[in-house]
Amino acid sequence: MNQVRPARAADLGALAEIERRVLPPGWSEEELREFLRAESSLCLVAVRQGRIVGSVLYRSVLDEAELLRLAVLRHHRRRGVAGELLQAAEGGLRERGVAHCHLEVRADNLAARSFYERSGWSESGRRPGYYPDGVDAVLMDRRLES
Ligand SMILES: CC(C)(COP(=O)(O)OP(=O)(O)OC[C@H]1O[C@@H](n2cnc3c(N)ncnc32)[C@H](O)[C@@H]1OP(=O)(O)O)[C@@H](O)C(=O)NCCC(=O)NCCS
Repeated sequence: MNQVRPARAADLGALAEIERRVLPPGWSEEELREFLRAESSLCLVAVRQGRIVGSVLYRSVLDEAELLRLAVLRHHRRRGVAGELLQAAEGGLRERGVAHCHLEVRADNLAARSFYERSGWSESGRRPGYYPDGVDAVLMDRRLES
């Protein structure tokens, strides 16, 4: 069973490790520390057998939030970890009054796009050649029902 809970300072090392492994080069421990300090931040971790196996980071402003990072360790994928992280995060965002979420994903990241579509996100636009290697960014959004 996974437990999903807010990240705390003691998790910074594990969070940075997930960033390095899943979203290289990833955010450093210092960047993550700064992020966690901000009131606008929401960071949840999924814990399985005492180990952090996934994380999600959002930033919210008024009724809008951006999903900034979502990562699940390779050997723990396709077991619903990301789904549990998003479900818990959306509960927290609703409590803050967030009604609308958005994100950017690489057009060639078919796993993530498929995950987001399955999770109720819709494509809302594209930024051609947005990433340094020329790949488009796909913009997606999701309305949270209250
Ligand atoms: C995208 C990611 C977070 C999904 O995590 P996960 O824990 O494996 O996702 P879940 O198990 O909750 O998946 C739920 C559903 O999403 C879809 N999905 C997830 N991964 C998929 C894949 N590789 N291919 C196709 N569909 C996929 C499926 O419908 C899946 O349900 P199913 O397993 O019953 O078929 C994970 O693959 C990951 O960390 N990728 C690398 C980092 C990344 O790309 N982050 C997003 C950047 S914007």
